[in-house]
Amino acid sequence: MSKEDPIVVWHESSVSREQREKLNAHRGCVVWFTGLSGSGKSTVANAVDRLLFERGVRTYVLDGDNVRHGLNATPAMLTEQFDEAFGQRFGLGFGQQDREENIRRVGAVARLMADAGLVTLTAFVSPYRKDRDSVRATVNAATAAGNDFVEVFVDTPLEVCESRDPKGLYKKARAGEIKNFTGIDAPYEAPNEAEITLDGGTGTPEELAKQVVEHLVALGKIT
Ligand code: PPS
Repeated sequence: MSKEDPIVVWHESSVSREQREKLNAHRGCVVWFTGLSGSGKSTVANAVDRLLFERGVRTYVLDGDNVRHGLNATPAMLTEQFDEAFGQRFGLGFGQQDREENIRRVGAVARLMADAGLVTLTAFVSPYRKDRDSVRATVNAATAAGNDFVEVFVDTPLEVCESRDPKGLYKKARAGEIKNFTGIDAPYEAPNEAEITLDGGTGTPEELAKQVVEHLVALGKIT
């Protein structure tokens, strides 16, 4: 959460969150997938998206790779449009501070999307516990219920992620061609108290997605 600034005042919407949620026939919330690269976050989040869509739930997936194509573009991507200095200043790479800013921005967007009444699914490595906890606090502070943040830990062993290596990035990281790669030369801090933990090393994405949906029903997020 951030400090208040008297020159920036929150503008209330003419349609309340409750009214939007009534129209949607479900609450808005943030379902935050975290795990190593290749753990299956995006695949499972997208499978959950499909299952919820078929149930008539209004959803959207914010995916790390996709958000880094626009809002949180890397320095190299911004340099395509702007000069080198602009790219370095506003682009987000994979050092700790840049990841922190990546998650802060996504958390703020996810919070607004939950306010719009959407079940907002996010799929980011989000390797630092304090960054995820900070998003949890921001999202939960937005409503009286205070429990709109659901953390899903996709617990897939590093060996399994590395054997999948869908983008060949682990190979490059091991060869020293990519620095700060999570699980290789950058840390991953597993959640201590995720609402949902998936054994990402076993089970198909569809089976894991069904588990998530069952948990969301049990937690009262959807019916
Ligand atoms: S983070 O840590 O939350 O800011 O990362 P995120 O925005 O989710 O982006 C992760 C995807 O970027 C690719 N990639 C890397 N991941 C981890 N470490 C390093 N250094 C790195 N460089 C590129 C990788 O493909 C991640 O995609 P997923 O879908 O997680 O495998």
